[in-house]
Amino acid sequence: MSSESRIRCAALRARVMSAAAAAELIPAGINVGMSGFTGAGYPKAVPGALAERIRKLNAAGNDPFRISIWTGASTAPELDGVLAEVDGIDMRLPFQSDPICRDRINTGKMDYVDIHLSEVSQYAWSGFLGKMDLAVIEVAGIREDGSLIPSSSVGNNKTWIEQADKIILEVNSKQNAKLEGMHDVYYGTALPPNRKPIMITDPSDRIGEPYLACPMDKVIAVVETSAADRNTPFKAPDETSRKIAEHILNFFHREIELGRLPKELLPIQSGVGNIPNAVLEGLDAGPFKNLTAFTEVIQDGMLKMLKSGTLATASATAFSLSPEGIAEFDNNIDLYRDKIILRQQDISNHPELARRLGVIAMNGLIEADLYGNINSTHIMGTRMMNGIGGSGDFARNGYLSIFVSPSTAKNGAISAIVPMVSHVDHTEHDVKIIVTEQGLADLRGLSPRQRAHEIINNCAHPDFRPALMDYYERALHSGRGMHTPHLLEEALSWHVRYETQGQM
Ligand code: COA
Repeated sequence: MSSESRIRCAALRARVMSAAAAAELIPAGINVGMSGFTGAGYPKAVPGALAERIRKLNAAGNDPFRISIWTGASTAPELDGVLAEVDGIDMRLPFQSDPICRDRINTGKMDYVDIHLSEVSQYAWSGFLGKMDLAVIEVAGIREDGSLIPSSSVGNNKTWIEQADKIILEVNSKQNAKLEGMHDVYYGTALPPNRKPIMITDPSDRIGEPYLACPMDKVIAVVETSAADRNTPFKAPDETSRKIAEHILNFFHREIELGRLPKELLPIQSGVGNIPNAVLEGLDAGPFKNLTAFTEVIQDGMLKMLKSGTLATASATAFSLSPEGIAEFDNNIDLYRDKIILRQQDISNHPELARRLGVIAMNGLIEADLYGNINSTHIMGTRMMNGIGGSGDFARNGYLSIFVSPSTAKNGAISAIVPMVSHVDHTEHDVKIIVTEQGLADLRGLSPRQRAHEIINNCAHPDFRPALMDYYERALHSGRGMHTPHLLEEALSWHVRYETQGQM
């Protein structure tokens, strides 16, 4: 495709340059907003060119060249990986899943600020994060008037474009040109006390514009690329994820029978990963029709559901597709165009909307404790895995918040159900259902002592059940408080045992 058809604005076409030339325009020490959400729509060329520049500067013995990077969510090796590798990231927010970044964070070489994804733009607008100097944004095209056709994610791009002094655009011709028109960018947000209700009452509602407005005088460079998104392959559902999916589907059927869920369920939010994907496959194989999704990311399972008619509409902020998923999307985009809406993440994850629509939130957990507190982020209480992402946006505000995990990790050495979580992301008040391959714990309306029985008996692996029950019984009879019984000197001993002996 010619650059004229992707860059239809002559004034901005005149600012086309190489990625290396654009990277020269980025000074050290600044805050840079980059596009990108869950491996979709991140800049593919400028971060790599900047990393190369930093590598050379480092080799020549210059002072460290580091920038702070704010994105929508996780990106890819071409952004987080390359810049972390040259030690080019001072501070990173609001979410990452890159192994090199993770290592830098956990060895104290990089600061990381883990934020609810719906709240990031509010943080930026409120000035809590400091000044955004420059933004690097991938788009699918530039229109005649200089407005931008967003690519495979919207994320925080609207806010970054508004907040940054200078903008570098990457125009990626690999992104399907027919993405044009699928986005809904809402320009009605404001800081308190000037907020108005956000008028979405159904996931299919459109309230904004299909394009990002962009002041032309801010654009200092336009870089042309043609590169695919990260597109991580999914594993075929294994026995564990199939069992988890089965428990959730049985639960939905029961709730429908009891009249607590409509037969079209309620809008689904599904975290990324193999287990949520297996749940989506299970839903697709069942009797469901005309479901809706109000979620963060569209993954392979959702495309299949849209194609089969199980799902009528999906609202999200990004795609997160496997290579097969992206091929399916590209080949059948006309079928998907009217059924998918991509919004900025402060709307896709908005607490007001999750509560109003009554979202069914399904997210992964690292560990849960006897009383239903959830750790989604920290391995053994200190090491960051990915981040809270949107799980809190949906879990606290959804109608049903479901957390899923295998009952053990690391070949059975670790129990996902522990006496006390080593870090809390979702408190017992925000957690309604926990599911492992062992079964489902329905915590709604239960006291902490009732929850302990439900979680140990239904979710813990049989190898760990006796030790969990023993802890609970001894705590109950320890003479301490009986509302949430604990043996404080022992509560984290399972983690210490794993760290010292390699087995909980
Ligand atoms: N202790 C130590 N390691 C553990 C563990 C525990 N209790 N539980 C899981 N792990 C490890 C696994 O062994 C695995 O390690 P590996 O990558 O070396 O194999 C890794 O953590 C991922 O676990 P897995 O069971 O494959 O689950 P997942 O890929 O579904 O990820 C979360 C689970 C919690 C890490 C993931 O859901 C997450 O990051 N959640 C927070 C963000 C979020 O929920 N976003 C939702 C909106 S998209």
